[in-house]
Amino acid sequence: MTGRSRQIVLVVASFVAVAFVSWLIFIAFDGAAIDKRMSTLNPLSDQAQSYHDVYVLVWWLSGAVFVVIMAATLILSIHYRERPGVEPRRDIHGNTRLEILWTIIPIVIVLIMVVPTFAAVLSVEGDAEEGALEVTATGHQWWFEFTYHDSDGNELFRTANEMHVPVEQAVNVSLVSNDVIHAFWVPALFGKKDMMPGHNNRLWFKSKPGTEGMHYGQCVEYCGDSHANMRFRIFVESAADYDAWVTNQIAKAKWSDDELVSAGREVFVAKACNSCHQVEYSKSDAPDWLVPPTVAAIGPNLSHLASRTTIASALLDRDESSLRAWLKNPPAIKPGSRMPNLELTDDEITKLIAMLDSLE
Ligand code: CUA
Repeated sequence: MTGRSRQIVLVVASFVAVAFVSWLIFIAFDGAAIDKRMSTLNPLSDQAQSYHDVYVLVWWLSGAVFVVIMAATLILSIHYRERPGVEPRRDIHGNTRLEILWTIIPIVIVLIMVVPTFAAVLSVEGDAEEGALEVTATGHQWWFEFTYHDSDGNELFRTANEMHVPVEQAVNVSLVSNDVIHAFWVPALFGKKDMMPGHNNRLWFKSKPGTEGMHYGQCVEYCGDSHANMRFRIFVESAADYDAWVTNQIAKAKWSDDELVSAGREVFVAKACNSCHQVEYSKSDAPDWLVPPTVAAIGPNLSHLASRTTIASALLDRDESSLRAWLKNPPAIKPGSRMPNLELTDDEITKLIAMLDSLE
């Protein structure tokens, strides 16, 4: 093999080796094998798409820089290696043309990244177009409260840990906190934004057509013992399903005269559950002892708990065994939980579950 052809083989082999390693890294992060429910690589809104597009651009640019630099390092190391009988090359100092070139190239690369980055950030700032849905998301240690408003800004209802939105509808979300700093993030739908005490942050998003389904969210600012347990879900659904959900949430809680449910209501009051959790009953003559006149939002509003799929800030599916485990000892499931272990007996828990299951 001549020196020339050996050089060509060396260059090609170096590029192939580096490209192969890069490809391995790419497939590791591509998301083909990972759970896409919390992945930014599966954008389901225009806003998440604009972030994703910037990510892909930066990935390919960095990939190209990586391949070129690693290949050049390999080629030069092998070509100029020390060999017996070969005089080492002299060092070279100063080359104005080269220095100008390697200053301009990084500037151009940075500019190519900066312009779309700012465009993406600006596209999600401010408010959505007129007619957007208005929801306030409040961070609590450790759960999320969602307050829905009508077009005049009046409160319609409150729910917890599960937010519903109609597909292809712009949604403005006001982000506030009741205690420490939390952050709000649904990777498939929007970038994360802080929930600050005493400061109102806003974000907006609009889901793409055909994205009906459940999307996972998570607090992403360390906020204490159960930060990692502070989860929520967004359900994107058809306009008809959404309207049905809203109609049910606006209605007051159904009153049931079932014996076990009535017994559950008595436990609910005897154990002072109603000093933290509001249940707004439809019965106009619901006894005063059941519904205190004002209740601070210490815990989630339970008026329609049975319409939710989860409990305990979306940590557990809402079923008999989870409710039982939760009511038995909340801090065992969510360390630091403000809901204490109330030392409930199995019988009291059975009654409470009957009551909670009646709150459709
Ligand atoms: Cu709330 Cu971390």
